[in-house]
Amino acid sequence: GYDVSKLLKQTGAVTFDPGFMNTAATTSAITYIDGDAGILRYRGYPIEQLAQHSSFLEVSYLLIYGNLPTPTELEAFDQRIRHHTLLHEELKGFFSGFPRDAHPMPVLSSAVSALSTFYQDSLDPFNAEQVEVSTYRLLAKMPVIAAYALKKSIGQPMLYPDNSHNLVENFLRLSFGLPAEQYEVDPVIAKALDLLLILHADHEQNCSTSTVRLVGSSNANLFASVSAGINALFGPAHGGANEAVLKMLRQIQADGTKPEDYMEKVKNKEDGVRLMGFGHRVYKNYDPRAKIVKATAHEILTKLGGNDELLEIAMRLEEKALNDDYFIQRKLYPNVDFYTGLIYKAMGFPEKMFTVLFAIGRLPGWIAQWREMISDPNTKIGRPRQLYIGEPERDYPVR
Ligand code: ACO
Repeated sequence: GYDVSKLLKQTGAVTFDPGFMNTAATTSAITYIDGDAGILRYRGYPIEQLAQHSSFLEVSYLLIYGNLPTPTELEAFDQRIRHHTLLHEELKGFFSGFPRDAHPMPVLSSAVSALSTFYQDSLDPFNAEQVEVSTYRLLAKMPVIAAYALKKSIGQPMLYPDNSHNLVENFLRLSFGLPAEQYEVDPVIAKALDLLLILHADHEQNCSTSTVRLVGSSNANLFASVSAGINALFGPAHGGANEAVLKMLRQIQADGTKPEDYMEKVKNKEDGVRLMGFGHRVYKNYDPRAKIVKATAHEILTKLGGNDELLEIAMRLEEKALNDDYFIQRKLYPNVDFYTGLIYKAMGFPEKMFTVLFAIGRLPGWIAQWREMISDPNTKIGRPRQLYIGEPERDYPVR
């Protein structure tokens, strides 16, 4: 009901672009996506090759520093992360302040935000040495915080990190280990989790990464910016989708709804129902990450004894969607999170942890993007304009 071009003229703005669908807010040398061709590359390397040959640790280094590490560099990177895994004891006390059934995402974002209070020596975003220490602290401590949030929610004691393990193994042990028991890391689970973390590690200017950049553009420190990114990821239209997919599949199973009937509901937009895990702002062909997850989901679920019936429902929904005009016309394909929840579940993670796992994966991307922004001389504080459609000037009624 309003004239956008007139409002633009009044404001002196050039574009009206809700959701920033056509606005490039930055240059970046980190991740390349071609949404029409279904291409994703980190620092030039195709995601398929990284998924097959690399590790989450190596991909983290690649994203943050721009090139693959030499074996010596990788070893030093690994050792420095292991060195920083311990949480301050007082930070551990933080966890008892939350209700026991708290969702681990806000616990994670709060604890990451609280790192600014424990490491006050690393709050200057322009001090390269401090940024470097903050980088290691975050990479090392965030998985520990995440595991403690899980332990807290299930009422189990928190273990200390064991630095003879690497980052992913340590996280699994802290998540599933018990003090009285020797925890053996299942190599199938460790490898599968490592792969999923690689696939989530960066995705250029998505909602949470743009949030990290926007907050950081005010020169807020790395912890504050990443904490904001975690909150942005929480929503079901973004990282929360992996949890929402599993809820949807379980609901379909519990109600005994036929996948085709569910699809009708989605297409008729009944109660705003969407096929969760489908659609993407950028991919209009196929999400290359989803292709990799789908190829491995069956294999991993067979090895881990996952829920075949839910996988079956997911595959039937996908098959229906790929042959349906509604989805074809709108170019809706499975995104990375259509199948990940099934795998996380088979690994033993409760549904509330799924988006936390996404956050652990996305962390190196957030760090790389924040560092790129801070060191870019063209960075300006993020400050979009608006088109005002409220009341014109009116006088306060003096009574
Ligand atoms: N199910 C049914 N219809 C859908 C879906 C879906 N999952 N996604 C989009 N549509 C429809 C919309 O209703 C709209 O239809 P219309 O033209 O008749 O109004 C059309 O497709 C375009 O949708 P938009 O919402 O305008 O697309 P946008 O690019 O803004 O949204 C998003 C992308 C948020 C990912 C959307 O597809 C969605 O909500 N998907 C489900 C949630 C999800 O899986 N999110 C994860 C995203 S990826 C990630 O963060 C890992």
